Amino acid sequence: MDQNELKQMAAQKACDLVKDGMILGVGTGSTVAFLIDELGQRRKNGLKLAKVVTTSSRSKKQLEENGFTVSPLSAVDHVDLTIDGSDRVDPSLDGIKGGGGALTLEKNVAINSTKNVWIVDETKLVDRLGDFPLPVEVLPISCEQNFAKFAKAGLKPQWRMNGDERYVTHYGNYIIDLAIDPLPIPQGLASYLDQTVGVVEHGLFLNICDEVIVARSNGNIEEIRR
Ligand code: A5P
Repeated sequence: MDQNELKQMAAQKACDLVKDGMILGVGTGSTVAFLIDELGQRRKNGLKLAKVVTTSSRSKKQLEENGFTVSPLSAVDHVDLTIDGSDRVDPSLDGIKGGGGALTLEKNVAINSTKNVWIVDETKLVDRLGDFPLPVEVLPISCEQNFAKFAKAGLKPQWRMNGDERYVTHYGNYIIDLAIDPLPIPQGLASYLDQTVGVVEHGLFLNICDEVIVARSNGNIEEIRR
């Protein structure tokens, strides 16, 4: 099966967790794009959600095309379930996210969700985090200092680019990808980044995911719970 078929299988399986009356969080990425189309089908077949929040303008547009009204995160007091993709997942269900640049809103939606489910094909599973550059969103006002600090610390920073220009996030910030592989102890690195002035958010999602739905290349679906 090709990777897109696997992404679609994981997305369809996750849709079974979505129930009438829920406040649903919908993530970002190519796997979630399959989820949104499936949710649209289920809406046509009678699914009634209380509210929908999402983590990017891309997903918002696709949700609206599928008939959903999207609320801002600030308009809900909690989210019942958030379904999102991930770039890498380790055996503890910690992950790296933000390959699509939406990490700041993704983390804010996730930490306000009662349950977080990630949908992935098996290429995203790793024994140890690394193997994918860690996105760090930084304020433009001190981004050069942040970059130099990361370089000095051996974290192999690279500017996220959009053609010849630096990639700009939804919030007008830049992304520095840390290409260090494997990552040092993720909790230590997360705490270092959390304490670095100028860092808005980073893509280490630790102790956040409750369940991963994995589509295996042989066509099996596996549900791994924390
Ligand atoms: C977006 O910023 C990311 O965190 C995505 O959730 C992640 O990159 C997974 O995307 P794909 O489903 O496209 O691999």
